[in-house]
Amino acid sequence: MRLLEALNRASLGQYILLEKEIIGSQYCRLVFLAPSVAGEAQPGQFVMIYPPNAGIQKILPRPFSVFAADREAGRLTVIFRIIGIGTVLLSQAEPGTKLGMLGPLGKGFPVPPAGSLLVAGGIGMAPLIFLASSVKVELNFIYGVANSEQFSCPLDYINQPNLVLHEVTEDGSRGERGSAVDLFRRLLPRAEAVFACGPRTMLEIVASDCLDSGVAAWVSLEERMACGIGACRGCAVMTKNGYQRVCSDGPVFSVEEVFLHGRT
Ligand SMILES: Cc1cc2nc3c(=O)[nH]c(=O)nc-3n(C[C@H](O)[C@H](O)[C@H](O)COP(=O)(O)OP(=O)(O)OC[C@H]3O[C@@H](n4cnc5c(N)ncnc54)[C@H](O)[C@@H]3O)c2cc1C
Ligand code: FES
Repeated sequence: MRLLEALNRASLGQYILLEKEIIGSQYCRLVFLAPSVAGEAQPGQFVMIYPPNAGIQKILPRPFSVFAADREAGRLTVIFRIIGIGTVLLSQAEPGTKLGMLGPLGKGFPVPPAGSLLVAGGIGMAPLIFLASSVKVELNFIYGVANSEQFSCPLDYINQPNLVLHEVTEDGSRGERGSAVDLFRRLLPRAEAVFACGPRTMLEIVASDCLDSGVAAWVSLEERMACGIGACRGCAVMTKNGYQRVCSDGPVFSVEEVFLHGRT
């Protein structure tokens, strides 16, 4: 029953790739003409995209956060790091080709109140940029990466008038030297709420500190996914309410839900 509901909600379609941009040596931005997906997508939701030209190899679709959705133009954008076979094939797709896409999927972020702190580690910036662009209120945005080459977000997306941007690199090659966690700890005392996406270790620290200080917080989790619609249970994580599927119960969870479990 849940599977049928999920399939009914998500639209599986073939969408034209309008634009492709290779960013630096490791990242790729794809823009699709996908009016039904762009029209429905909420910040924090994701899409599953089928890599092209997989030959005889059956290849599963890959999950990517919605980075931008232009409802009027019907354009949907994702940005991803090129790391394995699926993302290599996707980065080789040429504009004009059609790719299979399922979505929008999962549950997104709640609306951030003014004074919220958004904490992005690496490519974890993707759903948070969409979240920031969905509201007009002022937000602090921490964008932490290893070095300046890892900044994958195009400037016109990060330069939003409501964003107070805090860039940080581990080697100090752009912005402040340090980590997203260092900055997060400094800004947490004046945060109304926290929204985070990035490496698991970063999320655990963010969650733990928010729980200790009583600040409401939500994190977007990444797990390996096969179906993306709640059917295979391959993406289950333990929460205080038992096992939950990251693809359909998340990927966004409140920190009470996912990180209180197992805390002493
Ligand atoms: C909800 C969600 C949103 C995501 N959003 C983004 C995004 O906006 N940008 C981005 O760069 N990456 C994102 N990822 C991670 C992205 O899905 C993986 O990097 C990608 O699937 C790797 O595929 P691959 O074939 O190139 O790598 P391979 O390592 O060859 O993949 C092998 C298998 O593992 C899975 N896999 C590998 N790494 C991950 C991972 N970190 N998370 C989930 N599955 C993985 C693949 O889907 C594939 O099934 C997201 C993951 C999830 C779950
Ligand atoms: S990926 Fe199949 S249940 Fe989540």
